[in-house]
Amino acid sequence: MLLRGTISAPLPPSLRLRQVPARLLRRNVSVATSSSSSSSSCGDDYPLSVSDAALESRGFLLRRGAEGLDLEELNAVFAAVGFPRRNLEKIRVALEHTEAVLWVEHRRTQRPVAFARATGDGVFNAIIWDVVVDPSFQGIGLGKAVIERLLKDLLGKGISNIALYSEPRVLGFYRPLGFVADPDGIRGMVYSKRLKKK
Ligand SMILES: CC(C)(COP(=O)(O)OP(=O)(O)OC[C@H]1O[C@@H](n2cnc3c(N)ncnc32)[C@H](O)[C@@H]1OP(=O)(O)O)[C@@H](O)C(=O)NCCC(=O)NCCS
Repeated sequence: MLLRGTISAPLPPSLRLRQVPARLLRRNVSVATSSSSSSSSCGDDYPLSVSDAALESRGFLLRRGAEGLDLEELNAVFAAVGFPRRNLEKIRVALEHTEAVLWVEHRRTQRPVAFARATGDGVFNAIIWDVVVDPSFQGIGLGKAVIERLLKDLLGKGISNIALYSEPRVLGFYRPLGFVADPDGIRGMVYSKRLKKK
């Protein structure tokens, strides 16, 4: 997830894909589960490629919510992947307004080594932000483990319209997880103050 330098607020209603027919919204995340809008079994059925126990046996603990998360360490991971360091108080406020937080603690150092979060309205829509894995721990499945669980939790709440912004070089990471670009021509748009016509 990008939008570097900011932990952005959810998109304003005008930018959400609310008017899109449900059959298209469901395709924003084409997970293997059915499309029932409210069933918690949707999330229960979501397949995980690696279990929590398997991750734990490798020294990684799955954490939900911001409790116990050292924001300075998280900021260090942001910086390590090239995101600018952010104001800690703003990170704290952003996390308070976040629907779902998933992170991985490295048991030996007790540091966060993978992180993702989703903002949303609690029932219909969610947007995933700040997907990062510490460079020393990339390529061993932690990013996938975090996104899978974030999806599982959101789908389990009945939230079926799940979107994210992807840098071009990371599209190949998100596609196998069920994300598609431009489903039936649907385009995301972001507000640009600079380009707004006077
Ligand atoms: C992108 C990122 C989150 C991926 O996390 P990761 O832990 O390294 O990825 P994983 O090891 O879980 O990889 C899962 C799968 O995605 C693939 N993958 C990982 N990064 C990829 C990329 N950039 N492009 C294509 N495929 C990728 C892996 O090969 C793996 O494939 P497999 O399941 O067939 O074995 C991580 O590299 C990162 O933090 N990058 C810097 C920050 C960033 O760009 N964040 C996203 C902003 S939009």
